[in-house]
Amino acid sequence: EKEGYQHFMIKEINEQPKGVSETLMRRLDKEDNIVLDGIKLTKEDLEHINKIYIVACGTAYHAGLVGRYAIEKLARIPVEVDVASEFRYRDPFVDENTLFIAVSQSGETLDTLAALREAKRKGARILSIVNVVGSSVARESHDVFYTWAGPEIAVASTKAYTTQLIAMYLIALHMAKTADSISNEEYKKVIQELKTLPEKVKGILGDIDKIQHLGDAQFSNESVFFMGRGLDVNVAHEGSLKLKEISYINSFAIAAGELKHGTIALIEKGTLVMALATQDHLYDKMLSNIQEVRARGAYVVAVAKEGNKEVEKTADVVLYIPNTMDELTPVLSIIPLQLFAYFIAVARGCDVDKPKNLAKSVTVE
Ligand code: M6R
Repeated sequence: EKEGYQHFMIKEINEQPKGVSETLMRRLDKEDNIVLDGIKLTKEDLEHINKIYIVACGTAYHAGLVGRYAIEKLARIPVEVDVASEFRYRDPFVDENTLFIAVSQSGETLDTLAALREAKRKGARILSIVNVVGSSVARESHDVFYTWAGPEIAVASTKAYTTQLIAMYLIALHMAKTADSISNEEYKKVIQELKTLPEKVKGILGDIDKIQHLGDAQFSNESVFFMGRGLDVNVAHEGSLKLKEISYINSFAIAAGELKHGTIALIEKGTLVMALATQDHLYDKMLSNIQEVRARGAYVVAVAKEGNKEVEKTADVVLYIPNTMDELTPVLSIIPLQLFAYFIAVARGCDVDKPKNLAKSVTVE
């Protein structure tokens, strides 16, 4: 069933153009209107909603972080994102005017389910983004958005993440349109751009030599830092999780602006820094951050948009992603990071599909 691939993970990474396209195209009619048949939220419902909580674990939580950005930017409703295992224990402000969005590939993650039940008990409207049809999270929700990733077998989540991002964008656009907070022009622009993403993902997957080579390279240091600004911070977190869970390399992610508030103390000669620099309005600031770590001897691999050549002067290696709107870059910038984690894990001889101590679905607290 691996269809010629060495691992499920690399097969699933390569299935992303299809997953992204299916999740998107199945929700658009001929006139590019978003059709969310599993979601019954009306204009009146939305008018009552004054707060949104997005709650999930691991990779799904990271998709939620991007979702917050999309919903706040497009629909102008305040959003909080919580790790499911924490949500219940902080007595959150949930009532009938709250929309609770659960994100889960499996739909069986116990913490996510427990958080959902708690929010429901307090009167929230429950919308879930789930990959497995008929799963517990889906069954207990008022509204469901199914991602169209297909079965995900590898413990490290890849295609579920990119399809969750598409779900988030569609939900944000749908809310924006229902609430009249987006112009027709802007709406069409985002939809057109979303439609270009499957081909762009395919483009990245077709040109992997540089990343493969990086994965094979030996770095003097056993920890890797991921950094970025704006939306890139969220992708940095996801890239870091991918790397640590399958390669057992100590990695973490920070907002690049936080460097000088502590983390820069750890940068030394040979430290590997993965720097995401895809946000146009934050590009110059990222270049300065890259210089800061470079000056202390770090080896910097940057991820940037095609055409932004300036970064070549400061980074050691640049992995380019095709151009797109800043808001949509996470769908593209995560791809080189997934591949990077994969190739490093393979080079280290790790059991990529079944990393030690981890289960695909976490049904205990
Ligand atoms: O099935 P879920 O999306 O609820 O799972 C959530 C996390 O357990 C999951 O994303 C986990 O972090 C993955 N191993 C990450 O690759």
